[in-house]
Amino acid sequence: PAPTPGFALPTNHTQQAFDPASDFTSKWTRADAKQIMAQSDPTVAPGQNSMSPDVTMPEIPEDFPAMNDDVWVWDTWSLTDENANQISYKGWDVIFSLVADRHAGYGFDQRHWNARIGYFFRKTNADPAKDKWNYGGHLFLDNTSIGNTEWSGSTRLMQGDHVNVFYTATTFHDVAERNAGGGGIAPDAAIAKALGNIHADKNGVTFDGFQHTKLLEPDGKMYQTKAQNPGFAFRDPYTFVDPAHPGKTYMVFEGNTAGNRGDYQCKGDDLGYRPGDPKAENVTDVQNSGAYYQTANVGLAVADNKDLTKWSFLPPILSANCVNDQTERPQIFIQNENGKNKYYLYTISHQFTYAAGMRGPDGVYGFVGDGIRSDFQPVNNSGLALGSPTDLNLPANNPSGSISGQQNGRQFQAYSHYVQPGGLVQSFIDNVNGVRGGSLSPTVKINFRNGVTQVDRSFGRNGLGPFGYLPTNVRVGGEGLY
Ligand code: FRU
Repeated sequence: PAPTPGFALPTNHTQQAFDPASDFTSKWTRADAKQIMAQSDPTVAPGQNSMSPDVTMPEIPEDFPAMNDDVWVWDTWSLTDENANQISYKGWDVIFSLVADRHAGYGFDQRHWNARIGYFFRKTNADPAKDKWNYGGHLFLDNTSIGNTEWSGSTRLMQGDHVNVFYTATTFHDVAERNAGGGGIAPDAAIAKALGNIHADKNGVTFDGFQHTKLLEPDGKMYQTKAQNPGFAFRDPYTFVDPAHPGKTYMVFEGNTAGNRGDYQCKGDDLGYRPGDPKAENVTDVQNSGAYYQTANVGLAVADNKDLTKWSFLPPILSANCVNDQTERPQIFIQNENGKNKYYLYTISHQFTYAAGMRGPDGVYGFVGDGIRSDFQPVNNSGLALGSPTDLNLPANNPSGSISGQQNGRQFQAYSHYVQPGGLVQSFIDNVNGVRGGSLSPTVKINFRNGVTQVDRSFGRNGLGPFGYLPTNVRVGGEGLY
């Protein structure tokens, strides 16, 4: 692309693949992420969207429907196989969502402290515009999961009608933390799984027999522990197989760079400027700005047995040191381009988790390379794939804090974007012009190829598809139910 006056050029990334077990960690650099502002319009009237329509989620109407009247719904994933196919099971589409009770006396922003995994099902041939998702209730019986709160993960259909639910077992220790939403003793986090059974008949889908196993806790060497930083992140497991390494199962997850909070030293590689770039920042200035507090990474682990009950950490595949503190719900999406497998890593992030001197929207970010461990090229040179409409010229806000009066009322319209087959992106509604969500957004479509992504505004109505549209692309079972 032509350089934007006033901005340094993005980092050169080769996309070259490395052995998944090697210790090459790709960097989402400051030079890369500064391209978000380089591509943003500095002249819009305050409160308009300053980002290109190609990376802006179309506006969600304020009168969106509630998916369910009893529970708030946020992070959501489909029943999948090991290749990210979305499975129709005996004629039913099945999705899993974090849910919290709407009537328990706490507010929407307290949902994280009260999260459970719930599930919904709907006939595979349902009309997504008319037929509601049926709520099946909590997936696990009360007090049976590894932590006392269930956070995001992924669910895979295994042989013999078994399912493996990979999830984040978060354990809160005191009432202040849990009921007031922060400020108390920091929670513990582990990655866990539950092996259980799925059943389906003409009335719907049920699950039983879950056996829970703790899989991973942060090691403090590659992945930050609670002792190193009470605000650490260790969560959101997503498992898959890699055609380049048959017989192995991998997991990506959200982590932070190990080390005590505040000890990280920003490095030239984290900045990523090209030698001699006149617009480059220098390491000392960045370090002195406090940017070292932001140390997100995307972790990788490999299964050591066929039952997927034993896992080993591998070094992170991506770090965002001195750029951003959270790279959440990572997923790997493999797509054939010109006869070659390209690996897209998608991960969600927030505007308020950026480091000093950095600015970007809430949304989904993407990186492409030749393997699961690559020198990843950020999509659109910046990493931003799809953000909520935001005026990036105004300072960052927080969805549960005070919001600048001038800012675009849709800056937090949706979060937890998840990329599904066909480029369909589902997310949940958070805040549309002050109307709080807790329900699935209209699905949107992005087209991506050669590291460039673009919102497809011919999809649905001006780019907005049906609410909670998570169609399946592979059928298992059926018994005449179709
Ligand atoms: C994303 C997220 C996940 C976490 C969950 C907790 O929205 O922060 O990283 O698992 O929400 O509610």
